[in-house]
Amino acid sequence: MKKFLVVYVSRTGKTKQMAEWIAEGLRFAGHDAALRTLPQVKKVEDIAGYDGYVLGSPTYHRAMIEGFNSWLFKAQRAGVQGKIGGAFGSHTHSGEAPGILQDTMEHVFKMDMAGLGPLRMEERVVVTDDGMHACQQFGRALGERAGA
Ligand SMILES: Cc1cc2nc3c(=O)[nH]c(=O)nc-3n(C[C@H](O)[C@H](O)[C@H](O)COP(=O)(O)O)c2cc1C
Repeated sequence: MKKFLVVYVSRTGKTKQMAEWIAEGLRFAGHDAALRTLPQVKKVEDIAGYDGYVLGSPTYHRAMIEGFNSWLFKAQRAGVQGKIGGAFGSHTHSGEAPGILQDTMEHVFKMDMAGLGPLRMEERVVVTDDGMHACQQFGRALGERAGA
């Protein structure tokens, strides 16, 4: 069993819902998934020590939600390099945030993104069964990448 940290920010609950389902998918694959909001993992020591990291931000003003930029500098110091990674988030029309997260995780932190792209989900889909299954499947695929 591997340990994953799912970190998200959510103003109106959509990305939070995605995070919960992704954590379920990781658990379906047999792993431990700690679910935390960004303010709950402020210190480098809070971030360090996991086998995989799944980061979620909704898109506001065509960007990640405030706070994630500086958080990523902390993550860099927490030794996330080379670990399994995934990025996700809810949006209405443009949905840039998960791609920005994925870009840093993949190209700067050299994380193993499990051959998956960012999970960008329109908020009207988040609340459907299809949304739930897509999030759970995303979590499960990341978990399967981690092996037993
Ligand atoms: C002020 C404001 C700006 C937004 N800007 C964008 C945007 O640039 N692109 C986009 O796709 N969605 C944008 N949205 C929509 C949110 O991303 C969407 O409502 C999302 O589901 C919110 O996720 P959350 O519930 O996790 O906070 C914006 C919403 C608000 C209120």
